[in-house]
Amino acid sequence: MRIDIITCLPRLLESPFSDSILKRAQQKGIVSVQLHDLRDYATSKHRSTDDYAFGGGAGMVMMIEPIDNCITQLKSERAYDEVIYMSPDGELFTQPIANELSLKENLIMLCGHYKGVDERVREHLITRELSIGDYVLSGGELAAAVISDAIIRLIPGVLSDETSALTDSFQDGLVAPPVYTRPAEYKGWKVPDVLLSGHEAKIAQWKQEKSLERTQNRRPGLLRD
Ligand code: ADE
Repeated sequence: MRIDIITCLPRLLESPFSDSILKRAQQKGIVSVQLHDLRDYATSKHRSTDDYAFGGGAGMVMMIEPIDNCITQLKSERAYDEVIYMSPDGELFTQPIANELSLKENLIMLCGHYKGVDERVREHLITRELSIGDYVLSGGELAAAVISDAIIRLIPGVLSDETSALTDSFQDGLVAPPVYTRPAEYKGWKVPDVLLSGHEAKIAQWKQEKSLERTQNRRPGLLRD
């Protein structure tokens, strides 16, 4: 998979991709993440990527031309499955969407800033808009990092078996059961006996029950869905 992220703050995105699982996924050649500085595609003297809003109002608007230049350049090099715009009013990003996007070959993610992008970008250049939650971030960069992480870890070969994404919360519509590690007793606080029993079927049943119980208590909406 290849992910091209278009941003006016590429440095903000360097660190999430230079550590741990996302770094290893790139080193293994499973995914390639390319950051594109929007200013490199600006044509004005000062390389501006934003301007005042027509009709007035507070806040700058990201200009269409640098964005179009960048997307056009990328599309001339390969076909893209989706051109995704990070926006608080986009479709809410969920595990099923992560699963779906993890099967794609090439993705473009556009990070918004200020008051957002010129509406014509959304009308003509974007295929999908995603939000990571009902709150407003300073820009789409952190959202792009969150979404990339959720997608990349699902690609076969990225996680080792023991950290397999199949047992994650939400993968079966339930949140994950509690987990414990050594010591089996700490300050009198004990690990449930069943987990120490070595009885695989009973352990699996316990995990399933706890998953269900937790989902009922914490995220009943998931069961309704
Ligand atoms: N940009 C600003 N806020 C955002 C959000 N909640 N999700 C995605 N992109 C955003």
